[in-house]
Amino acid sequence: MWTKKDIPDQSGKIVIITGANTGIGYETALALYEAGAHVVLACRDLEKAGNAVTQMRESEGTGQLSIARLDLADLNHVAEFAAHFRSKYSKLDLLINNAGVMLPPATCTPGGFELQFGVNFLGHFALTAHLLPLILATENSRIITVSSGAARQVDHIDFSNLRLEKPYDAQYSYAISKLANLQFAFELDHRLRNSGSSSVSVAVHPGVVYTDLQRFIPGDILETAFAQFSQVSEAWQGALPTLYAATHPDVQGGDFYGPDGENEYSGYPALSSYITTAMTDSLQAERLWEFAEQATGLKIRSTN
Ligand SMILES: NC(=O)c1ccc[n+]([C@@H]2O[C@H](COP(=O)([O-])OP(=O)(O)OC[C@H]3O[C@@H](n4cnc5c(N)ncnc54)[C@H](OP(=O)(O)O)[C@@H]3O)[C@@H](O)[C@H]2O)c1
Repeated sequence: MWTKKDIPDQSGKIVIITGANTGIGYETALALYEAGAHVVLACRDLEKAGNAVTQMRESEGTGQLSIARLDLADLNHVAEFAAHFRSKYSKLDLLINNAGVMLPPATCTPGGFELQFGVNFLGHFALTAHLLPLILATENSRIITVSSGAARQVDHIDFSNLRLEKPYDAQYSYAISKLANLQFAFELDHRLRNSGSSSVSVAVHPGVVYTDLQRFIPGDILETAFAQFSQVSEAWQGALPTLYAATHPDVQGGDFYGPDGENEYSGYPALSSYITTAMTDSLQAERLWEFAEQATGLKIRSTN
């Protein structure tokens, strides 16, 4: 039963967590701050981020907390965030690609991509691309990408429907974005291994967790939907797979962690058995990679 109390001292580590003002990101940031890390909360709303920091400072954290504005829907903004970060910091031990949006009304990003694909995947792809030189320059650094069990609902990415070309199916698009998160995390690790880097890429899913993620689901429907799960976690528990992947010394690049309870809905961190063929299909991952490089205009270089 690994919990945040088991996190080793994180003093001296610099961490970015996207979407850290609430939910799983908030609990991840709090735990790493308590363990001594310097945590940068990368959030789209600075007021919410400021309130989160005020609340976190009430705990007995020994680290540091900073906030920076990051809107993952806007690739220009991702570039600005990364440039600002690089001008202030000379290393990055942990990049936690956590932010997410689920089941919003049909919306496109400024670049014309379906919002969930744009924020959950493309924004994080761009963020990682911009920050990778710094990550590679940091010995034993880790990139953690938060996916979802929903990724199992689809077996490939339909590249002709990432800009809302076809009738909108919010759940399908969410699942696509989360499959993309996994294909990205595993392919990134593959490339890091091939280049002999000490940096690793690790994927996680939090199980089923009550958070603001369900904000677009009407209350009665949410109640019915959650009733089908034997267990539902609170955010602190949903953060455990991320925290384990980020800090446990035994973690290997390419690992995938989730909760260890029934059907991986809740519990304590363990290797996930959610893996499907599509998640680890290298041909699919390479196609996604090329698509993302073209869409963002960025090349991810796995060597410095
Ligand atoms: N909760 C679950 O049951 C569950 C299950 C599987 C996977 N997950 C994954 O876990 C991760 C965290 O979700 P959560 O449950 O903690 O949800 P949450 O409480 O809604 O937190 C999501 C965070 O992402 C931020 N965000 C949304 N759009 C953004 C954008 N365009 N740019 C930057 N940040 C943005 C939100 O900011 P605002 O507060 O400003 O909106 C918020 O800080 C997500 O990747 C989600 O897909 C959650």
